Amino acid sequence: MPVSKRTADVRRQKREARLQKSKATRQEPRAKAASPKPIIPPPAPTPKTQNLGPEALPGRQPPAVSRKHLLGIEDLGRKEIEGILDRAETFLAVLKRPIPVVPALRGKTIVNLFFESSTRTSSSFNLAASRLSAQCLSFSAGTSSVKKGETLLDTARNIEAMRVDGLVVRHSVPGAPHFLARRLHCFVVNAGDGCHEHPTQALLDAFTLRQRLGSLDGKKILLVGDIAHSRVARSDILCFSKLGARVALCGPATLIPRGIEDLGCEVFYSLDRVLYEVDVVGMLRVQAERIGSSLFPTVREYRQLYGLTRERLAKLDKSVVITHPGPVNWGVEMDYEVSELPQSLVMNQVTNGVAVRMAVLYLLAGGSEGEVQHG
Ligand code: NCD
Repeated sequence: MPVSKRTADVRRQKREARLQKSKATRQEPRAKAASPKPIIPPPAPTPKTQNLGPEALPGRQPPAVSRKHLLGIEDLGRKEIEGILDRAETFLAVLKRPIPVVPALRGKTIVNLFFESSTRTSSSFNLAASRLSAQCLSFSAGTSSVKKGETLLDTARNIEAMRVDGLVVRHSVPGAPHFLARRLHCFVVNAGDGCHEHPTQALLDAFTLRQRLGSLDGKKILLVGDIAHSRVARSDILCFSKLGARVALCGPATLIPRGIEDLGCEVFYSLDRVLYEVDVVGMLRVQAERIGSSLFPTVREYRQLYGLTRERLAKLDKSVVITHPGPVNWGVEMDYEVSELPQSLVMNQVTNGVAVRMAVLYLLAGGSEGEVQHG
């Protein structure tokens, strides 16, 4: 059918209008992409010049995130450690409020990726995230596709693909969180990697000691027990030394790794020789699940030689404080009486763990300052 000139003109005009409109909508996403709001804060370009120090306290500048992940105390300087502990003080105050929640990480999602059992660490990361108004999902290896043969990396990548901001990883293989941190975009917190490190435990131990003793500078801290298999021992040695304490170790020779003195600590094999000269006794669990063959004759003998027994407690100065990361083998590392003593900080450690983990998540996820204040 012949088309009149007028109809052809109208069609042309309509075509042009459609074309303009589609150009405009095609450009729109590009305009948005020019200033994307990052879900994950980019790692700071010059970690050495930034810190998490006291200047990061409320009322001052927003906190500087000086690294993207928390993988070990090994990577932190004294100022960074103190910055995290100072931040944890502000969160401990939040936890004492009638409504212990702040919206600092609203909209963020954290996943607990635990391939080893845990009570304290996983629950306190979970609580820390929810006290900051973040969502926290707990993954359990036992009921996941790991059972069907999925690798660690595939598992983590699939969880990350659900657009999470951070992973809290516990694994029996030393270096597993480091391996993931190199391959993922989200932040990674090491919640214990084999016998290697457990940085948040060391931070909460240091926080608890600082709370009771004021400062760790010049304090004599003795770690007792299964040093060889304890990631807590390794992180504690590094953390306490960086904060100015003098660290000594004591345990059976079979449970003290050769060369550990290189971390700057003294080694003793007799508990009675060193116990009464220190300010802090940090008891460690005998890691039965990691000890392949028997490394000490009997539990009874272990208790007698290295246990904080009621007889030793009776001789210990009341100013000496006692810590244990838990879980405790009562009657092996220490007698149950310890739990009732005012110098036992075991429960304080658990309480403080939430505040310290809030500080870590807040700093890594780039929480906003004002929202810490206005809970
Ligand atoms: C420690 C751990 O898992 O390494 N526990 C903990 O995190 N509370 C210490 C231990 O299991 O002995």
